[in-house]
Amino acid sequence: MIDSPSVQVRALPRRGVARTLAEDVRDGLGAARKYLPSKYFYDARGSELFDRICATPEYYPTRTENRLLERHAGEIIARATPASILELGAGSAAKTEHLFQACEYAGRRCVYQPLDVDGQMIRQAGARLVGRFRWLEVDGWAGDFVDAAGRLPPGARPRMIVFLGGTLGNFDEHQAPALLRALRSSLSGGDWFLLGVDRVKDPAVLDAAYNDAAGVTAAFNLNILRVINRKLGADFDPAGFAHHAFFDIDKRRIEMHLRSLRKQRATIPGVLPEVHFGVGESILTEISRKFTGPDLEALLRGAGLSPVVHYEAPGAYYSLLLCRPAVSPA
Ligand code: SAH
Ligand code: AVI
Repeated sequence: MIDSPSVQVRALPRRGVARTLAEDVRDGLGAARKYLPSKYFYDARGSELFDRICATPEYYPTRTENRLLERHAGEIIARATPASILELGAGSAAKTEHLFQACEYAGRRCVYQPLDVDGQMIRQAGARLVGRFRWLEVDGWAGDFVDAAGRLPPGARPRMIVFLGGTLGNFDEHQAPALLRALRSSLSGGDWFLLGVDRVKDPAVLDAAYNDAAGVTAAFNLNILRVINRKLGADFDPAGFAHHAFFDIDKRRIEMHLRSLRKQRATIPGVLPEVHFGVGESILTEISRKFTGPDLEALLRGAGLSPVVHYEAPGAYYSLLLCRPAVSPA
């Protein structure tokens, strides 16, 4: 099975409703309770910091999901027999390698379609993957998967949409069902959906995972201000803000904030002439929801997706769910 390696990364066509960084920053930092969409963490530095978070001893999700994929990739590929795998928020695609390894063992080929806001990351990942799997064709897409979910790039059938790393947890109780419903509308009868999500557990474990001792998560959080400075010519002083992350038991979610250490203001030319911060005032930069088993069943079934196999890590630490579109969409 030797072919010439092929990697292509194209920009996703933007829909008319797609929002710009400037619009999102104007809305988020102009709001009474300031917030920023977490997708803006991921410039080249942010993606690198995320990979370093994954290697910290406290951040268990990546290692746990990796073990589940290592163990079950063979069965997943045997059931789904995908002709194409489209991955949302693929990043470095390190864990996805298990699926290609399983294809290779089974003597199957498939096309890999990584989709990520960070196009450079998927270009690098694609080059690494075709170096290892010479038969693999990489058809990458740079852009926003929320924007693209209802009309994904075409792919060979049966197709498997893969959404790993607990990234679904970065969407709230309105956004996550809408995203899943849009993805469901892109699936046909013989297609599959593979979802990796983090589970509710001891709050001390969760708090530690988002407050690593080496301060990598803090640097990742602060990077969003550097992105706004660089891309919009703003003058945020990252040293004037502190990382603050905690598990909210009632909402079953981590909240990650940047807290202003002093009274200060920033200018974002052409977007917001002056943004004021009081001492202790914070910007919500990310939520990371943690799910119970019943939460997951309800979320998936409500979006017209039927879990076929639930691979659960010991202690219900993490879940990998292999789903099919329900016969009639919910
Ligand atoms: N799937 C990888 C990476 C998870 S980090 C893993 O499991 O380790 C989240 C990834 O999603 C990042 O690579 C980020 O660039 C991407 N991402 C976040 N929001 C996105 C969006 N709205 N559209 C496209 N990519 C997004
Ligand atoms: C990408 N996403 C699922 C990560 C998470 O755990 O919510 C991002 C992250 N934020 C802080 N640490 C990791």
